Amino acid sequence: MQLPSARQPAVEPTYYYSNLDQVEGGDGVWDLSDRLPEVQKYAEFRPDDEVIDLGCAEGLITMEVARQVKHIRGVELRQQRVDAANQIAKEREIENISFEIGSVTTIDLAPRSYDVVIFLGVFQHLSPQDKWPSMAKVLDAAKRSVIFRTPLFHPNTPHRTTKLAKLCQELDFTLTIYPRHEPRGGSFMIMNRMDAK
Ligand SMILES: C[S@@+](CC[C@H](N)C(=O)[O-])C[C@H]1O[C@@H](n2cnc3c(N)ncnc32)[C@H](O)[C@@H]1O
Repeated sequence: MQLPSARQPAVEPTYYYSNLDQVEGGDGVWDLSDRLPEVQKYAEFRPDDEVIDLGCAEGLITMEVARQVKHIRGVELRQQRVDAANQIAKEREIENISFEIGSVTTIDLAPRSYDVVIFLGVFQHLSPQDKWPSMAKVLDAAKRSVIFRTPLFHPNTPHRTTKLAKLCQELDFTLTIYPRHEPRGGSFMIMNRMDAK
């Protein structure tokens, strides 16, 4: 039997992050400092960008990106995380942001409807039948870039990297993988549409 590690509780916590001073203290197991630096270092955002963050949890990354873009829309499956995101954004007086309950598997996303699509740490949680149609929809929705994170090199998913590269090739995106050294962390990636300006 595999025991849950110290950072992986058996039951999904109410929140994803532990950095939630504003809402009862977060009970999540991740620290924003594990998650934000790659986005800040590698992702390119522009002041006129319309951005969507799919699976945004309590929106802590969403709110950091909001400083750099025209508008960002956060979509998240869990009600409490959306409520926390709305509360924190209000307290921080961030106005170019919105949060809603939704699923990447069912949300309507028109082709090239957002300059940048953020899709961090969600893909691996989708069911096998939802994973690749959702990934194709996410890429299709981006005018310029998809900011993506998922574990790539797990022994149970030996073909994930190849499938991802093939999909990017079919849809005319470049794929850059930024390897990381955190043991349980997913690989951070950026896909850029080849005809984007
Ligand atoms: C691992 S957390 C990552 C949170 C955030 N993207 C980040 O990197 O800070 C994944 C989040 O995606 C949400 N999620 C899972 N499946 C989803 C789906 N089908 N649609 C939208 N959100 C989903 C979970 O509730 C969770 O808050």
